[in-house]
Amino acid sequence: MKEAVDLLVHNAGQVVTMGDEAGPRRGSAQSNLGLIANGAVAVKDGRIVAVGPDADIRSAFEAPAEQTVDADKGVVLPGFTDPHTHLLFSGTREHEFEMRCQGKTYMEIAAEGGGIRSSVRSFRTASDEAIVGQSLRRLDRMLSYGTTTVEVKSGYALSTEQELRALRLIDELDASHPCDLVPTFLGAHEFPDEHRADPEAYVRILTDEMLPRVAEETRARFCDVFCEKGVFDLEQTRRVVTKAQSLGLRLKLHADEFEPIGGAELAGELHATSADHLLASTDHGLEALRAGGVIAVCLPGTSFSLGKHVYARGRKMIEMGIPVALASDCNPGSSMVDSMPLVLALACLEIGLTPAEAVVGATVNSAYAVGEGDDRGRIAPGLRADLQILDAPSYVSLVYHLGGSHVRWVVKDGRLLDPTPPRRPSFRA
Ligand code: NIG
Ligand code: FE
Repeated sequence: MKEAVDLLVHNAGQVVTMGDEAGPRRGSAQSNLGLIANGAVAVKDGRIVAVGPDADIRSAFEAPAEQTVDADKGVVLPGFTDPHTHLLFSGTREHEFEMRCQGKTYMEIAAEGGGIRSSVRSFRTASDEAIVGQSLRRLDRMLSYGTTTVEVKSGYALSTEQELRALRLIDELDASHPCDLVPTFLGAHEFPDEHRADPEAYVRILTDEMLPRVAEETRARFCDVFCEKGVFDLEQTRRVVTKAQSLGLRLKLHADEFEPIGGAELAGELHATSADHLLASTDHGLEALRAGGVIAVCLPGTSFSLGKHVYARGRKMIEMGIPVALASDCNPGSSMVDSMPLVLALACLEIGLTPAEAVVGATVNSAYAVGEGDDRGRIAPGLRADLQILDAPSYVSLVYHLGGSHVRWVVKDGRLLDPTPPRRPSFRA
């Protein structure tokens, strides 16, 4: 007698399981894919029941015909977790892209009142419906590229009521889309127009007013700060994140994106869950990450989109034993990127990762970077059944055959989804 399951994915040329062990992958373990050739996966009640050689799984389990998926020798791997995005925003900033093509830098545009502050003005006046509608379209595209879990930051609102609104809208998005969202509070993303004359007053609002309400009234799990020269300095960052930690929030930091002002060292000292960007990190900063058990989230799509030709030292991080995760940084300014395969390809071509290390960085390690690694990011019994089924002969195709999506089906919580983005109402606010 075969055991009845809800879904059976069989005849996979490769099942990329990532193995059974829990914990972020570091050093040589970052290339262990736990590959099963000619494999199959059985799913019940939204969870993985079994994975193994096709013949073994097929002789032990059966699913209804319409839920028995022939992978046709393609690749089955965990859905990607994208652990750093700013996808809740209003409007886009094509004109800044044109300015950068003409030689202006990202920081010059920001100093002139563009950048994050221009998205803040747009966010504050847009309707909930417009922001959610636009953001759903971005989630549709992410899903079409195999992403099933997305960290989403607030940070285009920058006042107490508006930041709470942003976190509420992230919940609304989460409830209206198959992807799971992990909310992060990033009230310290920039100093808003009305507080530029007195930045300290804004830091006090963050610590004394926003953070207690965020901890009390929202589902935000993480607090993040844009710790950067000209934005939040090291001392201001420390005040925000220590307060957040005292309220039970976990930490992430935008660290060393442009200048190494001590963000990585602070992340290490406070045992942040992740430190992100790290383009300008010194050896000392990287050593602090290693010692503090911090996951390094690399965002090569941002370097690429800014035309900087400077990338995080991913190879060095892996050699040092720092777990490396990969993220899109999807945002309207520095990285209008929704494709994790593009990010993986840049990780291989520009920061020295192998395809296997990149795949681990976008699954197991990125799931741990959002605190979900014991629940997803691998194909093992008991874990959440979040899968992507590729029309490709090898996981290497993800980074080798560029320019489109290889995803034939996505499975989210055990449900088989067509990854083609649905047609939604237009962009107009
Ligand atoms: O991660 N660096 C700060 N925040 C974003 C950019 C946000 C924006 O430009 O709108 C980033 O690159
Ligand atoms: Fe960011």
